[in-house]
Amino acid sequence: MKPPHTLISALLKSASPISRALVRGWVRTRRDAKGFSFVELNDGSCLASLQIIVPEGLLGADGHKDITTGASLEAEGELAPSQGKGQKWELVAFRVAVLGPSGPEYPLQKKRHSDEFLREKAHLRARTNKFGAVFRLRSLCSYAVHAFFRERGFHYVHTPIITGNDCEGAGELFSVTAGRPEGTASCLGNRPSGPPPGHSQPTADDKAPPGAQEGLSKGGFFGRPAALTVSGQLEAELLALALGRVYTFGPTFRAENSNTPRHAAEFWMIEPEAAFFDLEDDMDLAEDFVKSVVARALDEGGEDLGLFDRFVEPGLVSRLEALLGGPWARITYREAVDILAASGAKFDYRPEYGADLQTEHERYLCEVHFKGPVFVSLYPAAIKPFYMRQEAGGTVGAMDLLVPRVGELVGGSQREERLPLLLARMEELGLDPAAYWWYLDSRRWGGAPHAGFGLGFERLLMLLTGVTNIRDVIPFPRTPGSLEF
Ligand code: 4AD
Ligand code: MG
Repeated sequence: MKPPHTLISALLKSASPISRALVRGWVRTRRDAKGFSFVELNDGSCLASLQIIVPEGLLGADGHKDITTGASLEAEGELAPSQGKGQKWELVAFRVAVLGPSGPEYPLQKKRHSDEFLREKAHLRARTNKFGAVFRLRSLCSYAVHAFFRERGFHYVHTPIITGNDCEGAGELFSVTAGRPEGTASCLGNRPSGPPPGHSQPTADDKAPPGAQEGLSKGGFFGRPAALTVSGQLEAELLALALGRVYTFGPTFRAENSNTPRHAAEFWMIEPEAAFFDLEDDMDLAEDFVKSVVARALDEGGEDLGLFDRFVEPGLVSRLEALLGGPWARITYREAVDILAASGAKFDYRPEYGADLQTEHERYLCEVHFKGPVFVSLYPAAIKPFYMRQEAGGTVGAMDLLVPRVGELVGGSQREERLPLLLARMEELGLDPAAYWWYLDSRRWGGAPHAGFGLGFERLLMLLTGVTNIRDVIPFPRTPGSLEF
């Protein structure tokens, strides 16, 4: 009988030798010595690989040659103190089986590959140390997000992905229509219509319900234009005005054609929304939240973070530790423009009251002036969306959190809870109140002061790992012109 399959992460933490252990994973390297092969096996459970000692002849005369980089195998053996330095344990195998062979054409041979090269190999790159570490940290931080909000009485809510509104009003929407996309080059386009071979034919129940066809001719599947959501905020507000404190954590979509290292067409946003919160409460929440995720990453993701500290951004760990200290700077938009104007720094865009802060301005503020995170609040109403609370001097209760290297990490606001002011603002912007009747109802019946923010999860991961391109913290990134995997 085989012993149970154990993860390498668990074996490496073992307190004592184990007479029979079974591991499975992918071969990183094989080195042959007299009488033995040394195999580095990684199973994705942790950064470290386990060294397997494979005695010559265990797989037949030349069988060990099938243990090539990239192959998957299982090994049964004794977990024994390692003879080599740098590792505590190794597995002395008495049975090895190659489960999935690889070969010399395997694209990830043992050497350093560039990020650009690995983006072309997104289907395999999670098998490298760096991307394995990124995706494990992504998982750990997802957990940290839920833990933080749960401890604070926030309920996790699911807002729709298909919507009929453009929350941010920027028009960066992907439209949603029923039917098979045209085209020949994609998996979707290549498939003949109907179910793929081996799948059953549609039954009467699977067919379009009565009336759907009519709806299609009148304006699409939903009878009106539909789009992928750019933000779950408007729906989250409705839920906050019932459940008190809520948050979303899900995919959002933006068709902004900005091919930058910080923008993706599909990214995950975390959007807390809390009844009876004002702008100060909102900034406190954002600060506590980011600090708590960073603290958990340092506590539980230390091995993976260490890789980024060594190879991606030297000094990363102490920079992250510094983030946990003292309260972060808070300034108003007006103060920000004054700082920029007085800085003497050369900008492509001159800092001016009334104009939006450019990336170069945001980076100057957090990287050069404050040398750390900074909240900028109370922006001119004219450069912000309709739902923000109107404050004195033509400003709105908005806040952005700017962090070094990443720029804008959080965008949030106190919401306009006063119906007449909200309606006036919508009219100014040419928004049809009839289309937002359900949103406006929340101000008609039991409206309350409330606030919330959106944080781009990938930007948080960039801050945590020092990775400078958003494409490298998403397993299969969607950016303009890129939909291969
Ligand atoms: O500032 P944004 O546009 O704010 C909103 O969508 C609000 N409705 C959020 C709220 O108050 N509930 O986006 C929020 C954050 C940004 O600060 C940024 O971190 C991230 O989402 N973000 C992007 N991340 C990656 N790729 C993109 N294209 C992004 N656009 C925004
Ligand atoms: Mg923003």
